[in-house]
Amino acid sequence: MSTTLRARRSCLAVPGSSQKFIDKARTLDSDQVFLDLEDACAPLAKPGARTTIVESLNEGGWGTKLRVVRVNDWTTEWTFTDVVEVVGGAGANLDAIMLPKVQTPEQVVALDLLMTQIEKANGLEVGKIGIEAQIENALGLTNVNAIATASPRVETIIFGPADFMASINMKSLVVGEQPPGYDVGDAYHHILMSILMAARAHDKQAIDGPYLQIKDVDGFRRVAGRSAALGYDGKWVLHPGQIDAANETFAPSQADYDHAENILDAYEWFTSEAGGARGAVMLGDEMIDEASRKMALVISGKGRAAGMSRTEKWTPPEA
Ligand code: GLV
Ligand code: MG
Repeated sequence: MSTTLRARRSCLAVPGSSQKFIDKARTLDSDQVFLDLEDACAPLAKPGARTTIVESLNEGGWGTKLRVVRVNDWTTEWTFTDVVEVVGGAGANLDAIMLPKVQTPEQVVALDLLMTQIEKANGLEVGKIGIEAQIENALGLTNVNAIATASPRVETIIFGPADFMASINMKSLVVGEQPPGYDVGDAYHHILMSILMAARAHDKQAIDGPYLQIKDVDGFRRVAGRSAALGYDGKWVLHPGQIDAANETFAPSQADYDHAENILDAYEWFTSEAGGARGAVMLGDEMIDEASRKMALVISGKGRAAGMSRTEKWTPPEA
């Protein structure tokens, strides 16, 4: 199953323990919302948050947003009960479970097996609920390809920069920015690219994690712009003020979207009988060929998933 067209430009993090934030999240324009049982939820609040999350999912009102719940990671005492309560209580109204701090493919397999059990026991369609795997430490990164393919449920691979920085002892406290003293490149490039390669190799979405300076929307745009440029599909947002920035940054510009659709139309026509069955042709001042079509498909796919419409349409020369 190809998941590349499900828009996840903005993935809104919402503490599962806050009814107020959950209610607010329903009204916001993010592509995805994830209700958090992990780090945004204090240990003592987790049992109550499970109930709040189940009720909130079942109440509905989420529109077209993807509904995701982040459970606790397998090294804690909470994961099993998180999954049993959330999938058992609201599985019909849930699109994916996010598993943080994934280190091995077995952890994904364990989650898949547990979800399958719960789906069967509750008369839910088996396999419909996806898995989002967060890569947050060195072991997870070295296993990222195996993690991506550990279950057909895996839809996204997510970079968790805060935990990752802590886990590799990075000498910095500012998530998303370069560590002070490192001035010869991008300290995150290898991590971002490894996740992106695993995602692209296995037809998953690649999602960038949070930017914690929530008032600095320009900073968010700058950091989001980097992962968007590489090919990432979206980024976490922690505050309503970051949503528009994410939706814009991870969608193509209107000009690029129009151009991509025009390349597709023109290439289809030129390669057809009517267009002379040619392979490499001129579109304006630009030569386009099969590789151009593939690049255009990426941009048009991102634009279509973002609900964009064309403002300019190419027509064949004879028309
Ligand atoms: C997110 O979970 C992060 O650790 O950055
Ligand atoms: Mg984390």
